Amino acid sequence: MHQDKFKTIGPIGVFDSGYGGLTILRQMQKLLPQYDYLYLGDNARAPYGSHSFEVIYEYTLQAVEALFQMGCPLVILACNTASAKALRSIQQNDLHRLDPTRRVLGVIRPTVETVCGITQSKHVGVLATVGTVKSESYNMELRKLDPEIQVTGQACPIWVPLVENFEYDSPGADYFVEKRISEIMGKDPEIDTLILGCTHYPLLLHKIEKYVPQGVKIVSQGEYVSEKLADYLLRHPEMEQRLSKGGRVQYLTTESADKFRESARLFMNDTELSAERISLPFTEK
Ligand code: DGL
Repeated sequence: MHQDKFKTIGPIGVFDSGYGGLTILRQMQKLLPQYDYLYLGDNARAPYGSHSFEVIYEYTLQAVEALFQMGCPLVILACNTASAKALRSIQQNDLHRLDPTRRVLGVIRPTVETVCGITQSKHVGVLATVGTVKSESYNMELRKLDPEIQVTGQACPIWVPLVENFEYDSPGADYFVEKRISEIMGKDPEIDTLILGCTHYPLLLHKIEKYVPQGVKIVSQGEYVSEKLADYLLRHPEMEQRLSKGGRVQYLTTESADKFRESARLFMNDTELSAERISLPFTEK
């Protein structure tokens, strides 16, 4: 991998444990349609949310290595759990060994930068997986930017399985959505901004909106992450020049390609979409 590191031109790698990252990819494609994208969903091992730090780090590193091997100069962890648990370790321990000219970015920092400009009461709620809430990443990042901000986390363990199993429209989903919203608003009624801190949750947005008190702003990440990426590429022309521009999107999954294709088509509104199955750790054939 090292020999060609200065020449690598390729797509933007987008990684998630499953389908959730497609909500980010969709917005990236909308705002930055000129680039090529390579999406990888580790569907065979999703959900990540309740795994330990070690396991999430190991799985995420394998995914980043696979996307690097396939030529991505830049990888976006379109997964809060991976961003919270693995991003910093990969940046600090692995990037220099793998290829110091490439970059791995997450979704937490761009979200936090946006939220600081939105909250008036300085009481912010974070709905996320158990792993993300326990990591306290949102808390730390928000307080770095504004030490006065009060952050309340709420783990929503059933929400990802509801999405992954296409139950996000079912009446049963209302019960779990209402339960978590009332829990978090009960913990801090002054919350005026709620972060959907998991890339799967935008699929539940229509339900979430039903139960969030009026006046509370819901922050869904796709748009903000894409805007910050556009910004990053303007500030880093050396990276921008290494991104291939053909407007293509390819999909990889660790589960069956047919299963992924059927489901991802719904997320992406694309009937032509096709996918390929790979195994992690990835070894080139
Ligand atoms: N989509 C991921 C996130 O943003 C996690 C889902 C999972 O638990 O795998 O946190």
